[in-house]
Amino acid sequence: MAKAVLNHFSDIQPVTKDDSRIKRLQSVINRHQKRPDALIEILHGVQDSYGYVPLSLMAFIAQELKVPASRIYGVVTFYHFFSTKPRGEHTCVICTGTACHVRGAQVILDAIHDDYKIRPGEQTPDGKLGLQMARCLGCCSLGPVAVFDNDIIPKTDAKRLLAILHEKI
Ligand code: FES
Repeated sequence: MAKAVLNHFSDIQPVTKDDSRIKRLQSVINRHQKRPDALIEILHGVQDSYGYVPLSLMAFIAQELKVPASRIYGVVTFYHFFSTKPRGEHTCVICTGTACHVRGAQVILDAIHDDYKIRPGEQTPDGKLGLQMARCLGCCSLGPVAVFDNDIIPKTDAKRLLAILHEKI
C-alpha cells in the first residue's frame, strides 16, 4: 500500500518513505473511511503540511475518495485558505502542534520574524520565502519540526533553521 501511495507523489521532490506527511495524509483519509464529505478536513491537512495543495495530491485524494479531480480542484481554488502553489519561491513550514510548541516552535517563529519580518501566512516582499504553520506533521518525537521546501528538518532550533534559510535563500 505504502509503495502504491508513494508512486502518486512522484512529482513532489524529493519523495521518500520517511516523509511523515504522506503517511499522515493516508491515515487521515483512512480515518474518515474515504468519505467524500471529509474532503475539506483532508485538504486542510495537506495545506498545513505542504504549505499548499499540490496537483498530484489532488489527484491522489480524488482517487481515494472516488470523486472527480475537477471537484477537488474546484474546492481548492474556491477557498482562499487553500493554495495550488507554494506561497513564496521557497516555503518554510513550522510545526506548532503541542509537542513542537513545548519544544520551542514559537521561538523559531519569532526568530524568523526578527530576521525576515514575516509571520505565518506571509511571504517576504521579494517573494523568496513563504512561511506557513502546521498543526502537527505526524512526527512529534522529532520536534520541533520544520519543513523547508520538501526537506523535513527534525529537532531543529532557531539558530540551525536560520542558518539553513540563509544558505538556501
Ligand atoms: S506536534 Fe509537531 S510533529 Fe506533531
